Amino acid sequence: MRAITVVPGRPDSLRLVPDFPEPANDEGAILVEALAVGICGTDHEIIGGGHGEPPPGCHTLVLGHESLGRVIADPSGTLHPGDLVAGIVRHPDPVPCANCAMDEWDMCRNERYTEHGIKGLPGFARDRWRIGPKFAIGLDPALERVGVLVEPTSVLAKAWDHIDRIGARAVWQPQTVLVTGAGPIGLLAALLATQRGHTVHVLDRAVGGRKPALAGALGAAYHTGSVSELDFAPDVILECTGAPAVVLEVMCKVAPTGIVCLAGVSTGGRTIDFDAGALNRDLVLENNVVFGSVNANRRHWDLAAEALTTADPGWLDSLITRRVPVGSYAEAYTSADDDIKVVLEFGD
Ligand code: BGC
Repeated sequence: MRAITVVPGRPDSLRLVPDFPEPANDEGAILVEALAVGICGTDHEIIGGGHGEPPPGCHTLVLGHESLGRVIADPSGTLHPGDLVAGIVRHPDPVPCANCAMDEWDMCRNERYTEHGIKGLPGFARDRWRIGPKFAIGLDPALERVGVLVEPTSVLAKAWDHIDRIGARAVWQPQTVLVTGAGPIGLLAALLATQRGHTVHVLDRAVGGRKPALAGALGAAYHTGSVSELDFAPDVILECTGAPAVVLEVMCKVAPTGIVCLAGVSTGGRTIDFDAGALNRDLVLENNVVFGSVNANRRHWDLAAEALTTADPGWLDSLITRRVPVGSYAEAYTSADDDIKVVLEFGD
């Protein structure tokens, strides 16, 4: 069967292997036919050699952590042949740490967790894969074209879950939400914010292209320019760019008792001249919280699947701006101007 592989740490080692071995039975009871994998910044980082770890004893890693497939067989009886399914990315560490022991693997404390297509586990970019029932999310048949968005949505469902938990420290009635970055993560963050009934603002540097209309279709206000120029102080900010200057600006901008969730990953290596004392003063005197958020546990995946099922299917479909057949994989992994989400499709 076909598989998209890389040699982690070796740039430009991306390959389509035509005769990759079938998934081993010990990868999980449920056998799945791949329909699609989504591509994100993490995949580009792995391809660039800056991230990724092969499974023990292997030197290649099958890519793909944003999955959508169709069940071929499930002897456990959890799902049925023909069901749509997405595979949870992260598996708990073997110790396990206190969080992984409670299935809160997104909060792993010893970093020995594994992740399909990223760290120590083969990914979903292969014709067939296997998954255990505990890590399989059955999806509504209506998500056939967009179910691949469940993984990025799960990351935002977790972010919102933690915003709620932090907010519950006092009276918490957030109204205004700012999302920085109108890529897939930012737009899905805005979707969840609108589903919660908040007044939503999206800020991105793109003045044209698809982003303003995608934000507008959610009923969100779209801004360009800098965060400091905005004439309001958001109660919640979801920072989805990872751009260092934006990260600093949002921390200064959030309203008193407000919450900043950092969901974008920066590359690091650049320094900025910045008044850290003034920021500290603001955060302390306003009881602000700034926190980082990554990955998602099963609860968040279920919330994400539900959120997508109730969203406008046309809007979700328009987030996927390129669908590339697996034979043209190199095109899929080459970024193009105005891409939002690029998906690699496995069907023939
Ligand atoms: C994935 C997460 C993962 C993170 C770090 C992201 O692209 O969405 O599930 O935990 O990368 O590996």
